[in-house]
Amino acid sequence: MIRFVPYALLICTMACSQTTEKPVYLRSDAKTEDRVTDLLKRMTVEEKAGQLNQLAGDLNTGPASGNADWQHKLEAIKNGQVGSMLNVVGAAKTRQVQEAALAGRLGIPLLFGYDVMHGYKTIFPIPLAEACSWELEQVERNHAVAAAESSSAGVHWTFGPMCDISDDPRWGRVMEGAGEDPWYGAQLAAARVKGLQGNLDTNHILACVKHFAAYGAVEGGKEYAYTDLSRVALWNKYMPPYKAAIDAGIATVMNGFTTFEGIPVTGNRYLVTDVLKNKWNFKGFVVSDWNSIGEMVNWGYAADKKDAAFKAISAGSMMDMETQAMVKFIPELVKEGKIQMKEIDDAVGRILYYKFKLGLFDNPFAYCNEAREKATLFSNENRKQSLEAAKRSIVLLKNENKVLPLKKEVKKIALIGLYASDKSHIFDFWKGQGNPNDAVSLQEGMAAAFGTSSISYSAGYVDLSTTTNKSLIAEAVAKTRSADIAVVNIGLSGDLAGEDRSLANIAIPADQVELLKELKKTGKPVIAVVSAGRPMILTEITDLCDAILYTWILGSESGNAIAQVLAGEYNPSGKTVMSFPKATGQIPVYYNHFKTGRPSTTDGKGNWYSRYRDVDNHPLYPFGFGLSYSHFTYSNLTLSDSILDNNHTLQVKVTITNDGDHDGEEVAQLYINDVAASIVRPVKELKGYQKIMLKKGESKTIQFTLGSSDLSFYDASGNSVVEPGKFEVFVGGNSRDVLQEQFWLK
Ligand code: NOJ
Repeated sequence: MIRFVPYALLICTMACSQTTEKPVYLRSDAKTEDRVTDLLKRMTVEEKAGQLNQLAGDLNTGPASGNADWQHKLEAIKNGQVGSMLNVVGAAKTRQVQEAALAGRLGIPLLFGYDVMHGYKTIFPIPLAEACSWELEQVERNHAVAAAESSSAGVHWTFGPMCDISDDPRWGRVMEGAGEDPWYGAQLAAARVKGLQGNLDTNHILACVKHFAAYGAVEGGKEYAYTDLSRVALWNKYMPPYKAAIDAGIATVMNGFTTFEGIPVTGNRYLVTDVLKNKWNFKGFVVSDWNSIGEMVNWGYAADKKDAAFKAISAGSMMDMETQAMVKFIPELVKEGKIQMKEIDDAVGRILYYKFKLGLFDNPFAYCNEAREKATLFSNENRKQSLEAAKRSIVLLKNENKVLPLKKEVKKIALIGLYASDKSHIFDFWKGQGNPNDAVSLQEGMAAAFGTSSISYSAGYVDLSTTTNKSLIAEAVAKTRSADIAVVNIGLSGDLAGEDRSLANIAIPADQVELLKELKKTGKPVIAVVSAGRPMILTEITDLCDAILYTWILGSESGNAIAQVLAGEYNPSGKTVMSFPKATGQIPVYYNHFKTGRPSTTDGKGNWYSRYRDVDNHPLYPFGFGLSYSHFTYSNLTLSDSILDNNHTLQVKVTITNDGDHDGEEVAQLYINDVAASIVRPVKELKGYQKIMLKKGESKTIQFTLGSSDLSFYDASGNSVVEPGKFEVFVGGNSRDVLQEQFWLK
């Protein structure tokens, strides 16, 4: 590694003995805005273009762009041709690379960005799983830990939260999001931003809401595909979480890979300028996705990379991740008069603002403290948080005859499943710097909870195999016969969750179904523990198992969390935030679907209504569904009035009784239906929830408050509209099983 002398700092210490003689941009006592203006005045157009250039370091999280080696990258950095790096981590490494930037003519520090989707070194449950906890404080804590770890390792900025609503579990990236509900997605977005950014001290990092906008609408759930949606869908379904992140003060926004109204979103002026910058008054900066500027050429929307740079900057987009088009073509475009310097100054000024804001000009190595890094990463406290989060993310889908929690009489457990033991499947693509070998496997967790001698393990299937491995099944059957119960970890390898991991078939693999069929024949109770980064189609296995525990991808403490739930040390309280389809062809199946002119009859009988002939309209498990070891009954849904007007609120009360035999937590959910409106509205929309703890036998009456703004929706221009008329209100423990009342908005 070449050592560079920090040029700007050197000049200052030599020539500016008086603080007052320092250039304004180097004076920590000057106002940030003045420092930005002063620095912009000193920069050449080439240096400005350099600030818009973001290069990858050690790892490619996209198609390799033929990047130069480190020697060349460091030269480019020193020459002011790079404003930010991604995928460079570690206090020592970031310090070395930062030194190159400081040695440049103006000594402008780099911003280091990294994908910290659910933890840096201590890995937390995937965002989709964490959402199933319905615990915003826990979510905020998870992200605060991720921020503390990454900031200690030189990272200034993460590319998250991912706020793309999706109802298509074929899309691999549903694991990164909040599920299918825009209202809840908005609550999560705000909590995640708060956790990551905090007050932007050195224990926190800049966040980046992505992928703007509506990546979750990819056609057929196929990665990097076309997206085609109406403005009404854009505003009502996709925008609320992005907007919530902006309202929570997020510093940056990432474009997506997709299209809106036939225009790639990276070059879409309506999205970036009209909405983000003008309507929402967003003051932070926009970064492209990996080569999403260059990909406008592949979309056939730009003739070449120069045209792509022109279209991106004209749309209002700013930093260029990995295309290297901005750095190359902006000086020419300015010279040719195609782009005005004030557009470039606006983009560069926003990036510099955050470099000042993080204190990088005053203390460029504040995030490069190796002692802090060592003390912070994978600490016991962080692992404890990850365990808490993991337990709360688990969703119990089936529990026939109360087979769970495992009773004291269960002395011998057959633990079956490759994924229960082989740690190479435990993490997903977005595992940060997490080392799968540091994570707790289900086998280890079960041994800790039940004692090694109680567990007999057998793999049962081969990963990704579509043909049945008879000998593995035979061994699993033998182990089950000599045990009291079988716990079978099925699903998908973690590696099949995340970007570039769309699947056309999301049913439980055939060999795993075969395994369950054989285990069922033993007559022993069978508990399925399903690991996957998406809801899978469980139709074929529901009758083969006595219990189904959906455990998603839970992170570093995965095995401990699952074992503690199986043992009843934690009573599951998670509720799914995505519907579970009955068949792939039923996708999209989501609770907040739109009304139709031909709705089905309540009993599903008769003809001439909207449906498939072979599979009914309902998901296998609906949005908001999740069982507890206890049981909750809802009664006495009452409204404070049958009329609501703009100056008042309506109180919605319901009584919940824990009439089961365990203490437990319940997520009570409130939905509304706008009966008649100026545009077609969903059959139900979530508008509130409360997670409450009830001792066994205990009853509580809880209260929700509804105001007229809770009844609003967006028109095609993105204006919030409230229309008088009849509304239905529903309260229950999931989106299907609800009590119902009605009122009128005057
Ligand atoms: C591409 C992904 O779409 C984006 O989410 C991620 O932040 C970047 N690569 C950087 O890794």
